[in-house]
Amino acid sequence: MYSITKGDTVKALILAGGFATRLRPLSCTRPKTLFPLVNKPLLQWIFERLADNGVDEVVMAVNALTQFYIRQQKPPKCGLKVRFSIDPPKMPLGTAGPIKKAEKLLGHNEPFIVLNGDIFADINYKKLLRTHTETNALATIALCTLEDPSAFGVADVCNGNQIKQFIEKPPKNEAPSNLINAGAYVLSPKVFEYIPEGRAVSIEREVFPKLAAESRLSGFRMEGLWMDIGKPQEYLDANKTILDSISSKLKKPKSKKINISLPVAIDKGVTIAEGSTIGPYAIIGKNVKVGKNVQICDSVVFPDVEIGDDTTISGVIVGEGARIGKNVKLGKGCIIGDLVKVKDNVGIHESSSVCPAKEISENILKPKVVC
Ligand code: GTP
Repeated sequence: MYSITKGDTVKALILAGGFATRLRPLSCTRPKTLFPLVNKPLLQWIFERLADNGVDEVVMAVNALTQFYIRQQKPPKCGLKVRFSIDPPKMPLGTAGPIKKAEKLLGHNEPFIVLNGDIFADINYKKLLRTHTETNALATIALCTLEDPSAFGVADVCNGNQIKQFIEKPPKNEAPSNLINAGAYVLSPKVFEYIPEGRAVSIEREVFPKLAAESRLSGFRMEGLWMDIGKPQEYLDANKTILDSISSKLKKPKSKKINISLPVAIDKGVTIAEGSTIGPYAIIGKNVKVGKNVQICDSVVFPDVEIGDDTTISGVIVGEGARIGKNVKLGKGCIIGDLVKVKDNVGIHESSSVCPAKEISENILKPKVVC
């Protein structure tokens, strides 16, 4: 059994080298971990929480493109030492392979934290580490309760915290419990022996079931907010939930010329012309320019977007640098990629998505993916 004593270096590995196919087209131009949540990259939320929980060093397990985007955006490191471990070109290593690849950086001295770079979770990592060191488990998974666990890894817990079975994405109604893998765990260095080298390995399908069979897998029931931003609706919902949780701390924009319906989050450098109605649940990124009589609600607008007069945006994600013309109507569930241009007087049907840098000059009358 390992223990962590004062003075030990606490390390965390963040898995952030996936392809985020379910978040296309927005993920064509940024990795999931850099998606803004209430105008702050998810990775920054994660760094802040890790630093608050006494973590000293972070290994970012990424592919070369994700490393490029992170270096370009430079989210504040919050005092953490950040290093990169890069999957081989054209060989994504899955959710366990990158842990094996980072074996030297993580070392064999103490247990370390592993977390998915696409979850927002109020996890008390100090408690998670402590719980791990109190058992003889080789892995302790943070568990979160969900009504429908079928899209996640599900833990069958017995004897207090021991996980006797771990099943990835069980068929609906066949899950042994409602406790899902929250995408964060503590591993003891011995787990390196369970991960084959040089190929993609799934921790959920190849490592956890083995540890459960050997009675070396434990659970830690987390409390507080937990959100996966893997799909567009989940991403929008996560923004709304976080906005609710922090709105009392945000400054209320003051203007007699515009109507603000709280909660809203408006970043620096945003200009909004008279007669516009903003909110509820409008999250507007840096330097966005909003014309007259525009309506924005239930939506996330990324930085540097321009929106023409009389346009309506409701239930939409608008990518960075997009130009939305005058009198445009974007239907619920639309995803507008970065740098897209939508010409004046165009309506885009609900649940359509437009790939980066496309130009839309005609109405889209049924759900469509424009690539
Ligand atoms: P989808 O394609 O939409 O399923 O997204 P994804 O590829 O990100 O997969 P998933 O949501 O299952 O990934 C969970 C976490 O592991 C995310 O933070 C991913 O970035 C990360 N991840 C997934 N696959 C890899 C991989 O091959 N290498 C690395 N380094 N990280 C990965």
